[in-house]
Amino acid sequence: MSVFHEKQMNYAYKYGVAGALFGCLFLGAAWFLGLYFVSLMPTFSNIIQMHIDNPVIVIVDTAPIVLGVSFYYLGSAYQSLYVKNKEALDNSARFDALMNSAFDPIIIMDHQGTVLDFNRAAETTFGYERQDVIGEQLSGLIIPFRYRGANDHGFKVLPETGEGPLIGQKVAIEALHHDGHEFSVEISIERHSISADGSDKSAFVAFVHDITARKETAAQIIQASKLATLGEMATSVAHELNQPLSVIRMAAENSRRKMSKGSVSAEYLTDKLQRIEEQTARAAVIIDHMRMFGREAKEGPELIDPRNVIDNALDLIGEQLRLAGIEVVTEFPKDCPSILGHIIQMEQVILNLLTNAKDAMSERGGALTITLRIFSDQRNVYITSEDTGGGIAENALPRVFEPFYTTKETGKGTGLGLSVGYGIIRDMKGTITAENINDGARFTIILPRVS
Ligand SMILES: Nc1ncnc2c1ncn2[C@@H]1O[C@H](COP(=O)(O)OP(=O)(O)O)[C@@H](O)[C@H]1O
Ligand SMILES: [Mg+2]
Repeated sequence: MSVFHEKQMNYAYKYGVAGALFGCLFLGAAWFLGLYFVSLMPTFSNIIQMHIDNPVIVIVDTAPIVLGVSFYYLGSAYQSLYVKNKEALDNSARFDALMNSAFDPIIIMDHQGTVLDFNRAAETTFGYERQDVIGEQLSGLIIPFRYRGANDHGFKVLPETGEGPLIGQKVAIEALHHDGHEFSVEISIERHSISADGSDKSAFVAFVHDITARKETAAQIIQASKLATLGEMATSVAHELNQPLSVIRMAAENSRRKMSKGSVSAEYLTDKLQRIEEQTARAAVIIDHMRMFGREAKEGPELIDPRNVIDNALDLIGEQLRLAGIEVVTEFPKDCPSILGHIIQMEQVILNLLTNAKDAMSERGGALTITLRIFSDQRNVYITSEDTGGGIAENALPRVFEPFYTTKETGKGTGLGLSVGYGIIRDMKGTITAENINDGARFTIILPRVS
């Protein structure tokens, strides 16, 4: 009996007792009818006599026991079915509750990427009805066209290896809404065995998190910090513009003076006007650059030459560094592999490194040098910036990439430069690190080479 559940016992007993009662009824009826047909009264002595005349009736006497026991087993069988069914119903109700109360989309697929389940959050996030996607290929629904090949391949290698590019880790990708617009999500896929019979059958559960808002905030921070950098650079740009302006003024002044004396040759004038033209062009380049730098990067990443990045940054801030008595040394290779990213964002990173170096060196004597190097190996491009500003304080070193960490007085530093730079480099699949060298700090940027 111990194999039965307590509740099961209940049903088994109820059935058993009912069976036994029915057996007694059957027995009574059999005796009564037997005596009735031979026209005898149903008394105790007549019943005994009937048994003596027909010993086969003893078989009928076992009816209550036989029926009782049979019904008992029938009851227990019914009970266990009932319990199992109820458990299944409960589980499925719990599963539905879990799926549909989840705040984030959850999608269940088989090993071929066919959708088995799609929760309510997934319906609202992707704009599909559950019944329309069940049985469809996930890749054909929510993955933008350009990623589809990779995704199909990812699922194809699943059954053999149990691994795929998305399995067991969070990946940020673009997803496709039913109405055709793309948005950013973070997706992680877990593999689960779902077979009841022990066969190697897997389901893949995809957890999706819409990160559009987060990405927008990150973009806003980059933009804000860039505007702050622009503010910090304002003086530098003024210096930068001052130089062509004074050359222009000199050329104009000299020409005018010569003309008033009446001794001016056409050759002289042509030379001066050419000067003016060149310097105006230079000023225009700087202003264009400022304008471009202030714009928010909307286009996708592009191939960039790291040498251009540094040259552009020096265009904007070089004059100010010279005025601060800082020598800038650049060591660039003749041929340089490209990197993938936004040139303006990359400039933002370098500009902040240069401003930081200048700030570190501003109150120091001795040789003030910033050395910028670019080199590469088989896999990566390295950009380093070294200064002679005395280095980063030991307690500050682990914190310089934290947002809002600054050792500068209020109004001078935002503490965002390096943390935003860190994010930009990370998005380019690279790293940026800080260390102290002999007499200053060295920042190293490592980025994957693309060509
Ligand atoms: N080249 C450097 N030499 C010394 N300290 C540095 C250097 N670069 C960065 N730091 C330190 O890192 C801090 C954070 O830099 P950053 O994120 O650019 O913010 P901010 O320049 O606004 O202070 C700086 O306040 C400074 O203490
Ligand atoms: Mg800074």
